[in-house]
Amino acid sequence: MPKNAFYAQSGGVTAVINASACGVIETARQHPDKIGKVYAGRNGIIGALTEDLIDTSQESDADIAALRHTPSGAFGSCRFKLKGLEESKVEYDRLIEVFKAHDIGFFFYNGGGDSQDTSYKVSQLAEKMGYPITCVGVPKTVDNDLPITDNCPGFGSVAKYVAVSIKEASFDVASMAKTSTKVFVMEVMGRHAGWIAAAGALAAEKESDGPHVILFPEIVFNEEKFLAKVKYAVENYGFCSIVVSEGVRNADGKFLAETGLRDAFGHAQLGGVAPVVANLIKEKLGYKYHWAVADYLQRAARHISSKSDVDQAYALGKAAVELAIAGKNAVMPTVVRLSNNPYKWEIGSANLADVANVEKMMPKEYISEDGFGITAACREYLQPLILGEDYPPYQNGLPQYVQLKNVGVPKKLQTTYTLK
Ligand code: F6P
Repeated sequence: MPKNAFYAQSGGVTAVINASACGVIETARQHPDKIGKVYAGRNGIIGALTEDLIDTSQESDADIAALRHTPSGAFGSCRFKLKGLEESKVEYDRLIEVFKAHDIGFFFYNGGGDSQDTSYKVSQLAEKMGYPITCVGVPKTVDNDLPITDNCPGFGSVAKYVAVSIKEASFDVASMAKTSTKVFVMEVMGRHAGWIAAAGALAAEKESDGPHVILFPEIVFNEEKFLAKVKYAVENYGFCSIVVSEGVRNADGKFLAETGLRDAFGHAQLGGVAPVVANLIKEKLGYKYHWAVADYLQRAARHISSKSDVDQAYALGKAAVELAIAGKNAVMPTVVRLSNNPYKWEIGSANLADVANVEKMMPKEYISEDGFGITAACREYLQPLILGEDYPPYQNGLPQYVQLKNVGVPKKLQTTYTLK
C-alpha cells in the first residue's frame, strides 16, 4: 500500500496558494500507486500536532480544480514556530505518533521563509529520529523574499494588484488635483523587503505618471529628501502619488508605524504607515491628501491575479509531488528564469537547508540612486511577473470561489496534544 501524504498551508495566505494545493492534490491523484490519500493539516502544522487532519479524497475533482482560481488558504493556515529538535523533542515525538497512526510517508509544507524552517526541521525526522518521511517544501510568499527561487508564488499577483491600483488611483488624483486632493498615499505589505512596493513603480510609463515616490524598507526614511520629492512632483506634475512599504524605518531603525503586536516568530505586526506619511505631508507642505492601506485586499485579490503567478504556483505544487515520488527529501522546487522577453521559466530545486530563514531583500542595483524609485534592471525583473490575466469564473457579478467540505479524518490516537 502506498503511504499517505500530509499537505499544509502556512504563514500569510495569498491569491494563489490554493493553486499550489491544486497542483499537489491533482498530481498525487494521478499517482495512486505511489501516494495514497492526501491529508491536509487543518491550520498548517497545528493540524498535524493536534491530529486534526482533513481528508481531501472526499472532495470532488471539480472542487479540487476550482482551488486553482480560489484565493486564501482552503485548509486554514497558521503562524506557529516549531522549536528545534534538541529544544522540544516532544513536538517531534508527537508528529511521528500522528504520522505513524495515519501511515503518512510524505510531507508537503506550503509557505515562506519561516514555514520552510518548519519543513526543514520535519525533514530531519528521517535522519535524526529514524522515521521514514519524504519532506518537500512548496514555496509561497507575497513578500518575494525566499532565496534561490527567481520569485515566489503569490508575489506576482500582489505586484499586479499594486501596480494596477496605484495606476488607477493616480489617474483619479490627477483629475482632482487642481482644486482638491494633491497627494495619494498607498501602503503595501512586504515586511522587511521592498519587492511589493517596487512593483508599484511598474504603473508609471513616464516621469510625470504616478507613482512619483516609492518608500522602501531597504532605504532609511529621510524626511527632508522625501518632502522635497513630494513638493517637486506637485509643482511639476500637479499631484503626487506615493507607494509606501509597511516596513519603512527611520534612522534609529524603528518602523514608522508599528502596532506593538508580535507574531509567533517574533515579527512585529506592521501596518498604518500610510496615514503617518500623509499627515506629515499635510503638516509640512499643507497639501490635501487621501490614503489607503491595501492590507489583505492586496494578497486576496485573485480576480486580478497574474497568469504567470497562477501557472507557477500550480507548477510548483505539481513539481513538489514529482520530487517526492522521485525520493528527494529536504528540497523545495524553485522557479528558474530562462529569459525576460519572451518570458520563459522552468522548475528547478533547492535544498531546504539553504532556504530556511533566509530573507532576500531588494538588491542595491534595483533601487534608483535617489532611493525613491526603481532602476531599469528592476523593471526588467518585475515586468514578466505581472504578465497575463487569469480571471476566475463569475456568477451574479461576483467571482465564483470554492469552499471545500473539509471533512475530518477520524482520530486514531487516544492521546491529545496541547499546543505550547
Ligand atoms: O508574510 C506575508 C505577509 O503578508 C506580510 O507581508 C505581512 O506583513 C504579514 O504577512 C501579515 O501577517 P498576518 O496576516 O499574520 O498579520
